[in-house]
Amino acid sequence: MSDVTIKIKDREGVVHEVQGPTDMNMNLMEVCKAYELPVEGTCGGMAMCASCQCYVLSDHELPEMSDDEDLMLAEAFYVEDNSRLGCQIPITPALDGLEIELAPES
Ligand code: FES
Repeated sequence: MSDVTIKIKDREGVVHEVQGPTDMNMNLMEVCKAYELPVEGTCGGMAMCASCQCYVLSDHELPEMSDDEDLMLAEAFYVEDNSRLGCQIPITPALDGLEIELAPES
């Protein structure tokens, strides 16, 4: 009932439509992992590894970047204007219909 639908394009170009719970304190990186998408989340969601980098394809309003996320993305590879760290994006009702693409592995 409180799930949002998110479309995630993997690195092979396959789009996965997944459900993210808004009431379990999860973030986008954790949802990817829950669906066994190839997102490592090496730092456990601390904005310190960029393995959860994704490109935001839809024009959803997302929470503003923290300084930590901004600094991490400044050092990461394959960063584009629409890059975000999945672990810094909590699953909220506002995310319903969000479309993202996984960034290449660095
Ligand atoms: S999991 Fe490490 S930056 Fe997101």
